[in-house]
Amino acid sequence: MAKHALIIGGTGMLTHVAEWLSGEGYKVSVAGRTFEKFTAAFGSKQEAERNIAFIQTDYFNTVAFSGRIQEAIRERGSVNLCICWMRSDAEESFEWLKSWLAKSDNPVQLYEVKGSHASREGFKSEPINNLKWNRVILGIRMEKGRSRWLTDKEISEGVMNAVKKGKELYITGDVEPWDQRPG
Ligand SMILES: NC(=O)c1ccc[n+]([C@@H]2O[C@H](COP(=O)([O-])OP(=O)(O)OC[C@H]3O[C@@H](n4cnc5c(N)ncnc54)[C@H](OP(=O)(O)O)[C@@H]3O)[C@@H](O)[C@H]2O)c1
Repeated sequence: MAKHALIIGGTGMLTHVAEWLSGEGYKVSVAGRTFEKFTAAFGSKQEAERNIAFIQTDYFNTVAFSGRIQEAIRERGSVNLCICWMRSDAEESFEWLKSWLAKSDNPVQLYEVKGSHASREGFKSEPINNLKWNRVILGIRMEKGRSRWLTDKEISEGVMNAVKKGKELYITGDVEPWDQRPG
């Protein structure tokens, strides 16, 4: 049976990650609020041809989010890999997701994608039952003495590298010099 990857916030900068995982033989489910963003990202023949399905949900409503994710997983099978790009103020839904994935009967890899501020806090990856919690931090790029944020392609490549290497903590781009971050 194909492995199942769940990507929260998978219709924006992580589109390339969803396509890569689909190409690697995963069933992929991407969650977001807007179906139009999903079709813009993956085209209209996505489900049959690419095995990428959409879960329409808003992670700022934890009750609805948890119900919708569980329903989708019942339909598509248990999750082996979860990539999660959520706003930091959606902590309630993130905590629910983490504890729910940890109850899985099979091993689950979770990659939490965070902005550069996460580099200022400590992170210790400890397994929670069957769940391995990893983190990818998005930095900046210095070019010709000027800084810029990463492009969507660079972000997706960073996340793919983290998954390929199985890194607990992976920083893509630079997080220093801190005061050089673009405004
Ligand atoms: N360090 C860096 O270089 C860095 C860091 C962060 C961002 N960026 C850049 O900034 C750009 C914008 O970032 P962005 O956060 O808008 O990322 P994005 O990946 O373009 O969009 C956010 C994703 O999350 C979904 N989403 C947003 N709010 C949601 C909610 N409440 N519930 C469920 N899903 C939700 C969106 O779909 P829906 O809107 O349909 O829900 C979409 O799939 C990115 O394209 C990236 O290039 C750079």
